[in-house]
Amino acid sequence: MRQFVKIWASLAALTLSAAVHSPSTVEDDDNTTQLPLIIWHGLGDDFERDGMKEVATLAESVNPGTYVHIIRLADTGSGDRQATFFGNVTEQIEIVCEQLAADPILSSAPAVNALGFSQGGQFLRGYIQRCNNPPVRNLVTFGSQHNGISEFQSCSLGDWLCKGAEALLRSGRWTDFAQSHVVPAQYFRDPTELDAYLEKSNFLADINNERELKNVKYKKNLQSLNMFAMFMFDEDTVAVPKESALFAEVNATDGTVTPLQERPIYKEDWLGLKKLDDQGKLHFKSAPGQHMQLTEELLKKTFKEYFGPIQDEESTSLPRLVAQPGF
Ligand SMILES: *[C@@H]1O[C@H](CO)[C@@H](O)[C@H](O)[C@H]1NC(C)=O
Ligand SMILES: *[C@@H]1O[C@H](CO)[C@@H](O)[C@H](O)[C@H]1NC(C)=O
Ligand SMILES: *[C@@H]1O[C@H](CO)[C@@H](O)[C@H](O)[C@H]1NC(C)=O
Repeated sequence: MRQFVKIWASLAALTLSAAVHSPSTVEDDDNTTQLPLIIWHGLGDDFERDGMKEVATLAESVNPGTYVHIIRLADTGSGDRQATFFGNVTEQIEIVCEQLAADPILSSAPAVNALGFSQGGQFLRGYIQRCNNPPVRNLVTFGSQHNGISEFQSCSLGDWLCKGAEALLRSGRWTDFAQSHVVPAQYFRDPTELDAYLEKSNFLADINNERELKNVKYKKNLQSLNMFAMFMFDEDTVAVPKESALFAEVNATDGTVTPLQERPIYKEDWLGLKKLDDQGKLHFKSAPGQHMQLTEELLKKTFKEYFGPIQDEESTSLPRLVAQPGF
C-alpha cells in the first residue's frame, strides 16, 4: 500500500514541477505510471469470492503495481451478493461514487481503469456518466447488458435470492416496487414494452439517455473515455439477448439484430458513443463460449491491451488535473 501512495505522491510532485516548468528535476524510473483498476462484479457474485481475488491477482501480475479495488455494496460477502439482486441501482451507484472518492489511493490517482463483469459493466457506465470522480480512463465490459435484458436468467436450484428476484420480476417489472427494489428490473428492456420502459425504468432508460430530455453530462462524461471495449460472449444464453453486450437491439419475434450503429442512440449520439467510435475508441469484441466463461488467456491479453502503464506525459494531461483542482 505504501508503495502506491508513494507513486501518487511523486506524481503530484511531477505535476507541480511541470507547472513551474522544471520537470527535469523529478526523478522517475521509467517515465510511466500504472493506474489503479476498479472492478464491478456481476449478479450473484460478491467481492470476497475466490474468482474475484484471482482476477485481481492476475491484473497485478500482468501490470505490476496495479492497485485493484473490487467494488462492494456491503461489508460482508453475503450482503454484497444480496445487493446484486435487491436494491435501488440509483442509490447503489451513489454509494459507489462515495466509496471510490473516499479511497485515498483511487481518489488521488490521475485516473483509474475499470473492468465490469456482466451487470457490473452497465453499472460502471452509470458511475462514469453520473460521477466519474476519480475519472475512468479505459473501460472494459464483459457480457454486460448495455441495452438491457428482455428475459431474466434461469436461477439455479436452491438460489433463493435469485428466485425471489425472478418472482418479483414476473409479478410486475414496471411497478415502483420492482423498479426501486429488484436490480435486474432496473435494466429490463423489452422492445415490445418500450412505453412502459421509458416511463418506469429506474436505471437503464435514464443512463442510456433514451428519454426526451437528454442529460448532457452523461454524454460529456462517457465520451471522455480513452477506450471503451465491449465483449460479447458468442454462445451466451444467460444474458438475453447476448447482443446487448454490444449495445445492439434484438427483435425477439423475428430475431433481427439492429447493431448499435444503426440505432438512434448512436446516430443522434445521445451518449457520445458515435464520437468515441469515430475516434477509434469504441471496440466491439467477442469472446468464445457461454456467459462469463473467461479464460486466463483472454483476461491477460485484455489487461495488457487496456490496463497497461501509461506515459507520464499522458497522465499529467488527463482531464482531472485541469478540471478538478480540488483533488
Ligand atoms: C525518461 O525521460 C527522460 C527525459 O525525457 C529521458 O532522458 C529518459 O531516457 C527516459 N527514460 C526512459 C526509461 O524512457
Ligand atoms: C431510487 O432512489 C432514488 C434516490 O434515493 C430516488 O430518487 C428514486 O425515486 C428511487 N427510485 C424508485 C423507483 O423508487
Ligand atoms: C419485430 O419483428 C416483427 C416481424 O418482422 C414486426 O412485426 C415487429 O414490429 C417488430 N417489433 C419491433 C418492436 O420492432
